[in-house]
Amino acid sequence: MNEDKYLTFALTKGRLADKTLALLNTAGINCSEMEDKNSRKLIFVNEELKVRFFLAKGPDVPTYVEYGVADIGVTGLDTILEEGRRAFEVLDLGFGKCRMCVCGPASARDLLQHHERIRVASKYPNIARDYFHNQKFQTVDIIKLNGSVELGPIVGLSDVIVDIVETGSTLRENGLEVLEEICPLSARMIVNQVSMRLKNERIRELIHSLEGQL
Ligand code: PRP
Repeated sequence: MNEDKYLTFALTKGRLADKTLALLNTAGINCSEMEDKNSRKLIFVNEELKVRFFLAKGPDVPTYVEYGVADIGVTGLDTILEEGRRAFEVLDLGFGKCRMCVCGPASARDLLQHHERIRVASKYPNIARDYFHNQKFQTVDIIKLNGSVELGPIVGLSDVIVDIVETGSTLRENGLEVLEEICPLSARMIVNQVSMRLKNERIRELIHSLEGQL
């Protein structure tokens, strides 16, 4: 468990980390070491502020937080729901907004309406299973893919997909559409449950200060 004097953040490498750092900056938290965009380093420390950053792949962020090696994590709600790790979700950061949807060709609408046993391709098998089995009470076969999920219905691997829709242009360019909306998504801040007790004052202060910026 992370009982040391540092406040450790696990951030999602890429655009999400950039936006998170810009936000943290407004709360007086920065790390000049991270400004070198060509750097391949994965751990950064600001000794003065006693903060430390890990740059991780999105799905690993809740893992670092659950195990307490990071006190705080920032990643998309899609990833948090899919990974199902233990952590407190404390803040909606308001960026990275998109929607989790069931998508497919218009012809798949009937299959959904009649609760047919369909094939669903997704990078998010847990979210897809929960939606169809527990919310719609529809028996489906889930096929896990790792990206370019829109291929699924086009090449006949699946009837529909469960995927993120942001602008909708990937769907349009591939002749697919949103058939059902599962939930809105955005970047969230999560906190390790033990850190929340042990570093309560520091974490509360941070949340309060970020809330003021959002
Ligand atoms: C995501 C998502 C969709 C696309 C949606 O894919 O899986 O394919 O973005 O964005 P849009 O609605 O603005 O077109 P990503 O670019 O992360 O790549 P991937 O297909 O490899 O997962």
